[in-house]
This record gives sequence, C-alpha cells and structure tokens, in this order.
Amino acid sequence: MAHPQEMVVVLDFGAQYSQLIARRVRECQVFCEVLPYNTPLEELRRRSPRGIIFSGGPASVYGDGAPHSDPHILELGVPVLGICYGMQLISYQLGGDVRRADKREYGYADLNIREGGGLLDGLGPSTQVWMSHGDSVLAAPQGFRILGSTDNTSTAAIADLDRRLFGVQFHPEVVHTPRGRELIQNFLYKVCGCSPNWTPASFVEESVAAIRRQVGGEKVLCALSGGVDSSVAAVLVHRAVGDQLTCVFVDHGLLRQGEAEQVVQTFRERYRINLVHVDARRRFLTLLDGVTDPEAKRKIVGREFIRVFEDEARKLGEIDYLVQGTLYPDVIESGTATAAVIKSHHNVGGLPPDLKFKLLEPLRDLFKDEVRRVGRELGLPEEMVWRQPFPGPGLAIRCLGPVTEERLDILRRADAIVTGEIQKAGLGREVWQYFAVLTNQQSVGVMGDERTYAYTAVVRAVTSEDGMTADWARLPADLLARISARMINEVPHINRVVYDITSKPPGTIEWE
Ligand code: XMP
Repeated sequence: MAHPQEMVVVLDFGAQYSQLIARRVRECQVFCEVLPYNTPLEELRRRSPRGIIFSGGPASVYGDGAPHSDPHILELGVPVLGICYGMQLISYQLGGDVRRADKREYGYADLNIREGGGLLDGLGPSTQVWMSHGDSVLAAPQGFRILGSTDNTSTAAIADLDRRLFGVQFHPEVVHTPRGRELIQNFLYKVCGCSPNWTPASFVEESVAAIRRQVGGEKVLCALSGGVDSSVAAVLVHRAVGDQLTCVFVDHGLLRQGEAEQVVQTFRERYRINLVHVDARRRFLTLLDGVTDPEAKRKIVGREFIRVFEDEARKLGEIDYLVQGTLYPDVIESGTATAAVIKSHHNVGGLPPDLKFKLLEPLRDLFKDEVRRVGRELGLPEEMVWRQPFPGPGLAIRCLGPVTEERLDILRRADAIVTGEIQKAGLGREVWQYFAVLTNQQSVGVMGDERTYAYTAVVRAVTSEDGMTADWARLPADLLARISARMINEVPHINRVVYDITSKPPGTIEWE
C-alpha cells in the first residue's frame, strides 16, 4: 500500500505507550509508523522520516536487557522527541546523568515553562502534565538546555535546539496532560516541518491508486461480514477495481435482527457491488444441533465458515486476490508473544488457511477509529461505521446451551431491545459493546396471576478501550428498568432479566 511522502517514526520501547503516541500523531493528520526500538539505522534512513519519537517504556536504561536503540539515530540530523524512558535513553546515550529518583513521581504535576524552544511554544508560563517515572535525568547532556521543570523534576523538558533533540519526562500522549496534543503538534509542525495532510480523503485517494497498481486486471474476492473492517475494505477495493471485486457474504443464521438484510441492501443496491449472498443457515444449525459446549460451538462455526467460503470461491473460478481486513495494531503486534488462548477466536472474513490467494490488505496502516473515518468518507451508513464488535461465531456463543431456531429467535428479539434502548438513550458510542445473552436457566415467575416458568435473559454492557480489559457500564437504572419491562412484555419465554456486573478480568465480555 502506498505510504504518504511525509511521515514520522515512533520507536517502540513499550507497546502500549507507542500505540497511543502513534494515534496522537495521526490525530494531528501526520502519518506515522511504529517500529521496534532496535530497527537498523539503514531501515530508518530508507523511510526518510521527518521526525522520530522515542516512546516511553517500563524499563530503566541501566536495567538488564533494557531496550537501547542505535545511538547513531541521534546523529541522523532528523528531529527526535524522547518521551519519559525515551528522554532518559537520549540523555544516557549522549552522556547525561540518569538516576533512580528518591521517590517515584506519579500523577499530575505543574510544568513551569522557562522557554518554548519550539516544542512548548504557546503553552503558557505553566501547564498541567502527567508524570509516571522511577528514573530521572539529573543532569541533561552537554548542549541541552532546560525548557521546563516541575517541583520534583528540574529537567522535565529539555532540548538541544541546534541538533533538534528534545526530551520530556512527562507523557504528552495521555489525556491527563490536557495540552499534550499541542505539544505533539508543535513537534510535528514547527520542529519537523510536517503539514496536516494525512486525512481520510487523502488516504482514500492514495489507496485507490495503490490498489489499482497492485491488482491490475486481476480478480479479487472479499469475505464480507457486515462488520466495519470488512465493509470499509470492500467499498474501498470496489472503488479501485469495480467489478473485478466479488464479495461473499455467508449468512450462518447466527446474525442479529435485520443484519443480513442490511448487508445485502447496502452492498448490492447502494454500492452495486457483486455480492454473493450465501444462505447457509440450515447448514450451520444442523451442525450445531445438540451442541452445548462453547469451544465446540466456536470450532464448528469457524470450520464450517471456511468450508462454505471455499465452496463459493471454487464456484467463482479464477480468483487472484483475497481482501483481508488486517488493521495496524495487528501489524504492530504480530510477532510478539501472544497471551494464553482463553477462547479460540474466529474472525468471519479471516483467511481460510489453505486457500492460495495473494493478499490485499488495504487497511493495514489504520487504527480502528481511522477505519471508521474512512468508512464515513466512503459514504457507509452510520450504523455500519459504528457497528459494535460482533464475534465471528455470532449468536451461537450468546445462546447458552442448545442453539435452536426458536432460542435464536428469542435472543434476537431480546437483543434488539437492548441495542435499541441503549442507542435511543444516546449511549451507543460511549458503551463499547451491549447485547443480550440468553441463558439456559429457567425460573418461576408470575404474570397476570399465572405462574410462568421461562428463561432468564442477561443484559451485558461494557465500557472498554480495546476489548482486552473492560468494565461493566454504569447504565442508568431507569434505562435498565425499561429494557427489562420491554423484554418481559414483548419477548415470549423470557420472565426474568439480570444485569451482568462483572468486569474483564475476571470475566470476559462474551459469556462463551
Ligand atoms: P472476550 O469475550 O474474549 O471478547 O472478552 C473480547 C472481544 O472479542 C470479541 N470476540 C470475538 N471477535 N471472533 C471475533 O472476531 C471471535 O471469535 C470472538 N470472540 C469474542 C468480543 O465480542 C469482544 O469484543
């Protein structure tokens, strides 16, 4: 994929920090890439970055195995900004004095600014910053001056203006540094001379040209799930190569209310994309008949999805490329040790392992929020752009116990009430995921003087940044009351509604 001419590199000394910095840089409409701290000098030079940012990280520069980048980076003549550990490393490599501080500094501090130096221009005589460090730079290297200090840290911001090397002990990338964004803008625009021209429109334009170059006259296949990634990828590729693209949408019968119709309507009627709509509902339900074990459900749906997809690909004949909705965080994280498998995740649209296609990954430079902005630029409906994450195995893993048509129907109706009410309350974007789970537990109730014995439904709503950790959403009590009343009145076979107040960890977002 084509990269914009003007770019900045974020050197990664500790993954969570670097991703956040990268997102901030891109919010300033400057393209950036995250590279490992030990990227060879030559590789950096090849990218001709306008600037380099050293991220923070949990290590101490003196620690065993502490990550050290090539010191010659500081001689490239390219502006460098070191953040926290990054600043300590610059100082250490250039002969400054880095020491373990007497006490860790953690939390808010007031930065008193002596001199803007380009980096702190316009931030006033003093501004609030967020500190989180154990080591400190006691004496900056030769040639450096102090731009700002806090009560605890005299060298909170330093610079060698001739060599355009900067360091800040605090974290401008976090929201707790309210003017951090201006600092990053200063570095990008004033120090590095970048312009804010990495926009959804420029991305679409460059990608369309790059996809055309890559694909030429060949044929492209895309597995469409209706999720934001595969939808944006499909529309983008379609804009580039038109009818050379065929999308395959597998309806496994485990989708939410109205979902299949929306996918078909959007892609076939609105975008006029060649869409193969495979009604595989029977196939999946037959295989799931009598299966109650969560992992078994996941494996069956994953395996069958690949089979259906392969069958369709074979019917289509000669296909050269397969579109993959890979995103930038996957690119950065690939190769790092992955955590223990808690659940075997399955991505609809994921690569069937033994199909022999060339890969087309038009979103591999983007973070999720950027994918959404590109989706909007391409005119996708808001409900698709803001669609919640939805697991590949779909409702099979939200229907605890046996998965039958009847139980899926109950779940779909309950789920539509949860989603509808949360969106109506204007909380749709604040809450990361919200849905209903149908348990296999029945209990006694009373309705209109009659005893009932029916299912318990669960309302699950969580806030999260990335799905890795989550907290249960503090939904207003009257909203929960409305959801509960509607479910019991409108959905037969549900007579009890509970709200899940488990965070992740120890819980997971999905129940199975
Ligand atoms: P858990 O339940 O592990 O889920 O806390 C974390 C996030 O991942 C989603 N999820 C999946 N996504 N294929 C997917 O593409 C899957 O098999 C799958 N299982 C869970 C879940 O909805 C949440 O956003």
